[in-house]
Amino acid sequence: MRYNTLVKSQIYFIKTFGCQMNEADSQRLAAALTGQGHRLTSQIDQATVVVINTCSVREAAENRVFGLVEKLAKLSAKSYQPKVILTGCMVGSARGKRRRYTLTQLKNRLPQVKEFKTISELVGDYPLPVTRPCPAEVLVPIMEGCNHFCTYCVVPYARGAEVSRPLDALVTEVEALVKQGAKAVTLLGQNVNSYQPDFAALLRRLQTINRLQKIAFLTSNPWDLTDEIIAAMRGPKVDRQLHLPVQSGDDVILKKMNRPYTAAAYRQLVAKIRRAIPEIRLSTDIIVGFPGETRAQFARTVALCRQVGFNQAYIARYSPRPGTAAFRLADDVTPAEKKRRWQVLEALINRGKI
Ligand code: SAH
Ligand code: SF4
Ligand code: F3S
Repeated sequence: MRYNTLVKSQIYFIKTFGCQMNEADSQRLAAALTGQGHRLTSQIDQATVVVINTCSVREAAENRVFGLVEKLAKLSAKSYQPKVILTGCMVGSARGKRRRYTLTQLKNRLPQVKEFKTISELVGDYPLPVTRPCPAEVLVPIMEGCNHFCTYCVVPYARGAEVSRPLDALVTEVEALVKQGAKAVTLLGQNVNSYQPDFAALLRRLQTINRLQKIAFLTSNPWDLTDEIIAAMRGPKVDRQLHLPVQSGDDVILKKMNRPYTAAAYRQLVAKIRRAIPEIRLSTDIIVGFPGETRAQFARTVALCRQVGFNQAYIARYSPRPGTAAFRLADDVTPAEKKRRWQVLEALINRGKI
């Protein structure tokens, strides 16, 4: 590990919170540590080093991290004393140009943590150390960060500005992964549509890798999913499951979220995708109880979901995040009402009951 964080051979445990981007970072960290002679354990109480890869997207996600660190500290009081290293989006939130809190604040809140390091401090930048043998399905980050600044979202603060990895490097990496046994790749980015120079070209190029069977990607946002990308998605290897976060079905709320599309534009986009790829299945992300969301506005989200027929949705109750633009708006939908709205959508989409 860089910066001599781990000096001698250690037994390490990695706890990963958050999204697949963190999952991919943890895999990369594990590959690097194992490559340096440290040993991965699946039992936290046997580890000499515990790395916690954190998520900041909702308050509950950060609270789970605080809870785990406290639990570890209690265990440490007995016989077990692992070195705790914090990485991921909470460290990013304290480090970036647009930090949401300072590192000192984070250190004061978590005195039990020995080190606070970003993933690139821990493993260096790309190219990735590739694990051997390779799992059949591999997560491949194609870009980092986000420039969009949806008003509720910490990701641009936690992960910084958007940077795409070079197309040639990605192709070389996927070819190497396939040689080592990978059959499917999931390309990761906060908005893969805006991959530079050209996401459609990347999809077309990856299609030509012989023994690669499936290409999936996460996440595509509805405002820049171009006709060219849709055409590239028709390629036989591209997964027929598309994740297309809508967040809300009400135009006023979408605008307050800084999501640059209307519910009608979203419906039209879905119709266009279905014409091009009739067998496509759609999943989505929705936030209920955004500041000021009325029952009538929520009803528009329900109506949109009925029409589109998502096969899955990640439904989140709005959580005010310090540092974001929406934090200045009153969080005025009560917890009980957020829960009710969550249950309505959960029953409709994920349990198919209504
Ligand atoms: N880049 C992706 C994912 C971002 S975070 C995208 O643009 O969709 C994953 C999901 O968490 C978001 O889609 C949103 O539904 C949810 N989320 C983000 N911030 C939130 C907040 N403050 N409160 C509740 N849910 C939030
Ligand atoms: Fe967050 Fe919006 Fe960027 Fe997605 S596009 S990561 S929701 S700011
Ligand atoms: Fe992912 Fe959470 Fe960071 S959703 S990008 S791990 S804030």
